[in-house]
Formats: sequence, C-alpha cells, structure tokens
Amino acid sequence: MYLCGILLLLPCTFSEVIICPMIDPRTFSFSSVEDLSDAVGRRVLELVESDKDIFSIALSGGSLPTLLANGLLKYKNFIDFSKWHIFFADERYVDHSHPDSNFKACKGAFLDRVPEAHIYAIDMSVPLDECAKRYQEQLIDVLGGSLDEPPVFDLVMLGMGPDGHTASLFPGHPLLKETSRWVAPISDSPKPPPERITLTYPVINAAKNVIFIATGTSKVDVLPRVIIPSDQVNEQSLPAARVRPVNLEWYIDEEAGAKL
Ligand code: 6PG
Repeated sequence: MYLCGILLLLPCTFSEVIICPMIDPRTFSFSSVEDLSDAVGRRVLELVESDKDIFSIALSGGSLPTLLANGLLKYKNFIDFSKWHIFFADERYVDHSHPDSNFKACKGAFLDRVPEAHIYAIDMSVPLDECAKRYQEQLIDVLGGSLDEPPVFDLVMLGMGPDGHTASLFPGHPLLKETSRWVAPISDSPKPPPERITLTYPVINAAKNVIFIATGTSKVDVLPRVIIPSDQVNEQSLPAARVRPVNLEWYIDEEAGAKL
C-alpha cells in the first residue's frame, strides 16, 4: 500500500490556492509555479489507483515534463513507478536524442523512476505516417481498445500554446476534425519542428482524467477564451477548448489567469 494515507498526512504547502468554483471546468490558480507543480504532483498521485497494476499517462512536451517531475519529487519514495506507462500526447518527429524530443525531456525528468521500457518512444525508423500508425498500435496493445474503440488513458496531461493549440492540434488544422485515427501525423506544425505525431480528440476526450497546465503571461489572452462552460463549446472553438473529457482540471499560475 503506497500513498493514500501518507499523502493525506503531508502538510499542505500551497502558499495561495484560489479554487474558482464558478468556472467549469475546475480551475486552480497558484501564486508560484513551484506551488502549482506541488499541487499537480499531489493531484496525479490521488489519481493513481493503488489497487490497479497499471497507471497510463500521456504527457505533453514543452514545460510540462519537468514541472510534473518536480511536483512528484517530494513523494517519490511513496510511489510505485513500476506500474506507470508513459506515452506522449504529442511527439516531435526527431531523433530521441534531439533537444526537441519530448521523449528525451521525459526520460531526463523521470528515467530513474519509471522503467525505461514503460516510456514509449515513437519509432523513428519509419516515415512519419507509418510512425503514427505504429504508435497507435502500441497504444492499443498496452491500453486496449481497437480501431473502433479509442484506448482509455487514466490521465492525459496537456499544455496550451498562446494560440490555444494543445498537443499538436492547432487552430484551423484539419486534424481538429479527425475522428477515425487515435494517433495522427502532422507535417505542417506552425510550432517547430513541423513534423510530429499527436493524439486526436477521440482519445483525449475518452481519458478518465485530463489535466491542463498553463503558466506565464503568453497565455493570459487566450485562457479566458478556452476555459469556458461546456455548453458554449462549438466547432469553431480553439483546440484546447474542444478538450471535453468527463473530468477536466486546469492548473494555472496568476500570470496566465490574470484576465479570468
Ligand atoms: C509540444 C507540446 C505543446 C505544448 C504547448 C505549451 O510538444 O510542443 O505538446 O502542445 O504543450 O505548446 O508549451 P509550454 O507549456 O512550454 O508553454
């Protein structure tokens, strides 16, 4: 038995946590990234069901892997990382040792905790389209599902760009309408590098839990346009606004949330 009781005993270290009850989805704002990181770490550990032998999580790139790893550091001795299976919500089509590789960022943040075989890198030995197909096959192999039923993650962790993109789903891109593939290739990403693979909405929205992390002033204008009541989401919404799973939470800092 790992964490549950111990986590509850740990003192709350949040210097300032403003829970915005009037906003759907649940949004938590923090005065510092350190407090946000700690809260995310505690929340992720609450979601790791101690009676299950696998915890499946999809991570985004950018600032997210390090922020999550820092948030988990305090509790690392209480966690059974051997049951973690880490996929990527999106991944750049670059060598695993390339500075742009999300796998490289994640290995750096988690390697000494999660078995390397449980951190699923993309297959760079094949062209981009085939790479996406193989990642989808690997997803189904580990999590279940089929070509008709999207695999279900325990948790998908997403970031958001200043344009409202998330994973590698960008405003106005045809991939926003993708419903038959769970992992898709993109070769014209406006955020470099241009070639990537990305989870699509059917998988993201099938997840048991989705956590968004948004920090910094570059998100201040887009955030109010994305954190909107679910009954106002429409086809034209920004990519991040179209993430509508059963359980959705936002963890933001005060800079990003200044206009909420
Ligand atoms: C990627 C990311 C991307 C990222 C956002 C936010 O691989 O580029 O998955 O979607 O999450 O661009 O990045 P930051 O958190 O670094 O601002």
